[in-house]
Amino acid sequence: MDLSTSMRTDMCGRLTAADAGRTVSVCGWVATRREHGENLAFIDLRDRTGIVQCVVNRSHDLRSEYVAKMTGQVRLRPDDTANKDLPTGEIEIEITDIEILATAEPPPFPLDERTDVDETIRLRHRYVDLRKNRMQHNLRTRAAVNSAIRRGMEEQGFVEVETPMLIASTPEGARDFVVPSRKEPGSFYALPQSPQLFKQLCMVGGIDRYYQIARCLRDEDLRADRQFEFMQLDAEMSFVDQEDVFTAISHTVASATEAVTGVRPTEFPRITWLDAQERFGSDKPDTRFGMELVELTPIFEGTEARVFQAPCVKGIRMEGGMEALSRNQIDALVETCQRWGAKGLAWMKVIDGESGPALDAGVAKFLSADESTQLVTALDAKPGDMVFLVADERRLVRHVLGLLRLELGRPPVNEGGLNFLWVVDFPLFETINDAGKPVPAHHPFTMPHEDDWALLDESGEALLDVRSQAYDLVLNGWELGSGSIRINRPDIQNRIFELLGIGEEEAQAKFGFLLDAFRFGAPPHGGFAFGIDRIAALLVGETNIREVIAFPKTQSGSDPLTDAPSAIDAAHLEELGLRVLPPAT
Ligand code: AMO
Ligand code: AMP
Repeated sequence: MDLSTSMRTDMCGRLTAADAGRTVSVCGWVATRREHGENLAFIDLRDRTGIVQCVVNRSHDLRSEYVAKMTGQVRLRPDDTANKDLPTGEIEIEITDIEILATAEPPPFPLDERTDVDETIRLRHRYVDLRKNRMQHNLRTRAAVNSAIRRGMEEQGFVEVETPMLIASTPEGARDFVVPSRKEPGSFYALPQSPQLFKQLCMVGGIDRYYQIARCLRDEDLRADRQFEFMQLDAEMSFVDQEDVFTAISHTVASATEAVTGVRPTEFPRITWLDAQERFGSDKPDTRFGMELVELTPIFEGTEARVFQAPCVKGIRMEGGMEALSRNQIDALVETCQRWGAKGLAWMKVIDGESGPALDAGVAKFLSADESTQLVTALDAKPGDMVFLVADERRLVRHVLGLLRLELGRPPVNEGGLNFLWVVDFPLFETINDAGKPVPAHHPFTMPHEDDWALLDESGEALLDVRSQAYDLVLNGWELGSGSIRINRPDIQNRIFELLGIGEEEAQAKFGFLLDAFRFGAPPHGGFAFGIDRIAALLVGETNIREVIAFPKTQSGSDPLTDAPSAIDAAHLEELGLRVLPPAT
């Protein structure tokens, strides 16, 4: 695309040998300056496309990050000075005219890609940080993702509908950010955790296929893949089952991926939630590598080894682990597993035995010969491998080995390809809380699996077996998105509220408007939302979503640039009918 303006004829990073002889004007920031001989200086001028070498008279006061317009003739560099690593490395501009457009204080940190800079300092001066190649690339990639998402949705007849930011609470399960009302002191708006209820209202309203690139706000602890505010591709469809939703979302995710990588992913395999837990110890398996959890419980039925007298035993095998892990590292792994809740971590080496691979060291001495042989077979163990076993309650075994698997085998973010995976048949309830009530795994409008409707009459632990029509899309071990088919039958909805201990009055107060709407003709519907920050981060190979957000918050939730959150003055508080309590001591 032609980016020339009234001030520039060309972009710095796009000039090549083909431009030799042309007189050009370029505008940008002084990236580096090198003195050359008595009279000359080399200035690397930077704009969004890259840098170009400008040869200027050294008398010019051009310092780091000054903004300048430079005019001159493009010429080939002498052969031995060409820089093959730089797209513009074959040429330079012999500058005849310089206009300084803005001077600049010395930058607060070096703008090369190699120097590690404290993140708070980067964020305080984000406008400088954004000049880096990495940030330029990340933000442009993110824009390409957004654009491909829009196209992908529109191609499929989705209609973009904007939903409000000042609303009543939404049921996503995090804490709300709230905004005090001036007109009604003592009353508060909630900021949306997602457009969930509005998109369902859109379905009642006959929109049929809704989408939105929506800002969502959740007051929760921040992590590498979590910010207070984040963006979702949010979608909802009428007259559909799960398959229709998978088709639509897979199409758009494939388009977004293709826009960045140039390759359209075609594989969107499925796994049930239960299989994912049993084989990978996670509801968001990273399937870029194997090392699956192997079921070993039957081998230890009636075992003499105290360690393995437990309801469940599973193990993983680390290929070549004997060489890869030192004794100290193994001891550290045992401690780590204990921190994750295991009683211990049983480990063994696999050596060359008399009649094939055999187990040695660690807990090997506690095993009978038969158990040993069966383990070698079940784990497919080869000499040089290490095997790790955990014995405990099933959920705990899965959890700990799932984490250990990642610890031992997970490839770096930018290696191993992009492995998408639909996780289906999530349980409707995650756990039973101390009050004996089930805790929903998704939000309370999620349709239970039709085959399990009868189970809704049960109570207690039996409810944990109820499957839902909820599903996640996972990419390389990150939860990219979630969705479900929604309940549109009042009898089922009431039963769910009853199970969750949400009384009629509370339901009416919290979600009354949705329940009312459902009385006026609600089509069967379902939908999905995926995190745009997350997909953008994975596609550019970043491990933290902050790197694909122009102005993110720090891990502690503050913004070093604008200093938010900050106090507001007394008059403003008064107007809102608010009084701030002194901090609790
Ligand atoms: P859910 O709560 O699973 O579902 O969110 C969907 C996706 O949004 C992203 N996400 C986040 N990204 C960054 N920071 C956060 N704090 C954060 N929280 C969530 C994740 C997640 O998978 N309304 C339902 C969807 C539906 O049922 O249609 C919802 O919001 O990528
Ligand atoms: P102990 O008999 O407690 O000394 O444990 C012997 C070995 O077995 C140690 O390496 C422990 O870390 C390991 N271990 C203990 N309990 C368990 C368990 N529940 N599952 C797996 N390994 C265990």
